[in-house]
Amino acid sequence: MYGGTYRLIKEVFEPFNVNFTFTDFTDTKQVQKAFLPSTKMVWIETPTNPLLKIFDIQAISELSHKKNAIVVVDNTFLSPYFQKPLLLGADIVVHSTTKYINGHSDIIGGAVILNNTELFGKIQLVQKSVGAVPSPFDSWLTLRGVKTLAVRMKQHEKNAFKVAGFLQNQKNVLEVFFPGLETHPGHEIAKKQMSGFGGVVSFKLKGGLAECNVFFKKLRIFQLADSLGGIESLANYSALMTHDYFPVELRQKIGVTDNLIRLSIGIEHIDDLLEDLKNALTI
Ligand SMILES: Cc1ncc(COP(=O)(O)O)c(C=O)c1O
Repeated sequence: MYGGTYRLIKEVFEPFNVNFTFTDFTDTKQVQKAFLPSTKMVWIETPTNPLLKIFDIQAISELSHKKNAIVVVDNTFLSPYFQKPLLLGADIVVHSTTKYINGHSDIIGGAVILNNTELFGKIQLVQKSVGAVPSPFDSWLTLRGVKTLAVRMKQHEKNAFKVAGFLQNQKNVLEVFFPGLETHPGHEIAKKQMSGFGGVVSFKLKGGLAECNVFFKKLRIFQLADSLGGIESLANYSALMTHDYFPVELRQKIGVTDNLIRLSIGIEHIDDLLEDLKNALTI
C-alpha cells in the first residue's frame, strides 16, 4: 500500500487502539488467516502503489462480507473511469483526488464514495466535525479537471502501454510492472475487473540508488516528484520518497527495493517520452 496510508495506520490509528493485520491479498489462504474475530474492515488498494499488484475485489468482498467486515478500496490508481469497486461488491471507495480525478497536479484532496446511507451519515458527521475539508477554490479546480478525465485516462493508458513495451526491451531494465502486460501476474483479474490498465508503470533498474540517481538526473521531461496522475509525466523513487516510512526490511520484503522506479505516464507526445527514457537509460 501507499506509504502514507501505512503511516496513517501506524502513527494515527494504532495509538487510538485501532488494530491492523497486514496480509498479502494475492494469496487467498493468507487472507483467510488474517481475519480475526474483531476484524471490522478490510482495506485494499488495487492496483497497489508502487508495484501495481492486482487484487480480486469481488472475491475479497464476498469473503469479507461472510466475515461481517466491510470492504474499502483505494481506487486512486485507476479513477472511476477504469474501475468501479462498488459494482464489484465493495462498500466504500476512496480516492486521492490529487491524482487522476483532478489531473493537473495543482490541488490536494480526497473523496469517499459509497452507496450506504447509514455509513454515509457517519462519515458526513466526521467530515463536518473534524474540519479537513477542501477549499472552494480546490473544489472548483477539481470539478474543472474531472471534466477531461475520460480523454486523459485514455491517453495515459495509451502512452503507458508504449512505455511498458519500451522498458521491457532495455538491457539495463530487470523487470517491468504494468497490469496491461500479459506477463503481469494479475493480468487476468485486471482484465475482469478493470476497463483499462491505468497510466502508472514501475520498473527495476540494474543497480541500486547510484544508478537510479543517474537515471533521474538525466531525465528532461519526466520530473522527479512524489505525486502521480497528472497530465505531466513524473518519476518517483519510492524507497526514499512515497515509501520512506516503511522500515527497510519490510520495504524490501514487499518488493520496494532500492532499484525500483515508478513512472506516472503523462499525456505528452509518446515520442518525447520514449526519447527522454532512452537518454536517461543510456549508460
Ligand atoms: C494509492 C494512494 N492513495 C492515497 C494517496 C494519498 O494522496 P494525497 O497526496 O492526496 O494525500 C496516494 C498518494 O500517492 C496514493 O498513491
